[in-house]
Amino acid sequence: MTGGGLQEWPEPIVRVQSLSESGLHVIPDRYVKPPHQRPTTTRHRDASNIPIVDLGGGHGKQSEEEIWAACRDWGFFQVVGHGVSPELMDRAREAWREFFHQPMEVKQRYANSPKTYEGYGSRLGVQKGAVLDWSDYYFLHYLPATLKDHDKWPSLPSDIRKVIDEYGKQVVALCGRLMRILSLNLGLNERCLQDAFGGTEIGACMRVNFYPKCPQPDLTLGLSSHSDPGGLTILLPDHQVPGLQVRRGDDWITVKPAKHAFIVNIGDQVQVLSNAIYRSVEHRVIVNSTKERVSLAFFYNPKSDISIQPVNELVTKERPSLYPPMTFDQYRLYIRTKGPCGKSQVEALKSPR
Ligand code: OGA
Ligand code: NI
Repeated sequence: MTGGGLQEWPEPIVRVQSLSESGLHVIPDRYVKPPHQRPTTTRHRDASNIPIVDLGGGHGKQSEEEIWAACRDWGFFQVVGHGVSPELMDRAREAWREFFHQPMEVKQRYANSPKTYEGYGSRLGVQKGAVLDWSDYYFLHYLPATLKDHDKWPSLPSDIRKVIDEYGKQVVALCGRLMRILSLNLGLNERCLQDAFGGTEIGACMRVNFYPKCPQPDLTLGLSSHSDPGGLTILLPDHQVPGLQVRRGDDWITVKPAKHAFIVNIGDQVQVLSNAIYRSVEHRVIVNSTKERVSLAFFYNPKSDISIQPVNELVTKERPSLYPPMTFDQYRLYIRTKGPCGKSQVEALKSPR
């Protein structure tokens, strides 16, 4: 399903990378955020970081407990000992960096539309006149196999398709493991969340974010505040350039990535299935004037046309269901239309009471 009004972009697309490379000193008004959304430069919180969990230590119970605490306190954590090859992680990031440094006409062959979002893009949302984020991206489907289409993936650099295939395979295995732990931590059968996602028919897609250098980083954002609409997100950050900020109360904490770690966060669908025991958390990306940044966000999602609602065992008289049933196809139309808007969607979904 596509939904009305999502056929084409409302304005001609401008590649942020081209703007950045043109050497301008003042960013166009379209990218200037209202003052309350601009990044604040509070330095006093620099010591804090999201928790780091080692999945490879052999102490299953301990990492489960650490994940439970991280989900409760942050909604975000880093994992090491995750089983994904470090060489593959580095190659995946660098292959995508090479893609973004291909000539514009090569990239334009993959220009996307809001119909499916697949391909090379520069905005999220179709609101005419919207203030835009300082980034370009590439979006592709990895699962289900029926949606995966190598022709919609870049062909350069020459190893990129093979690298994405192998990267996807290893990250999907990690997601399966995390889903079991998240289920156990809710007191459920370890297959519960995976089954609710559609078992082997889950969806998985990837958004590769490219944040070009920005001459006025204090006025804009690389990606506006949002929670991820899907199930789980496995982010491979740029190992050299920080940028991701996680909301904690009224503060924004800049994540300091550990070596070869992934950043994991809970998406809205897991919040719904868990009847808000797990919560998705707002995050955003800041940019800087000296270094570009590349990140790979891998989204592990429910099968797109099954109904998602709190699992039975988590609905009681004391804790009634907070959310009405909805498919992920319906759910993601919101962000695809409006662009990133904090947690407004999952908040609005709450059943009136
Ligand atoms: C995302 C996201 C963060 C980053 O793609 O949803 O939050 O660091 N990315 O690029
Ligand atoms: Ni996100």
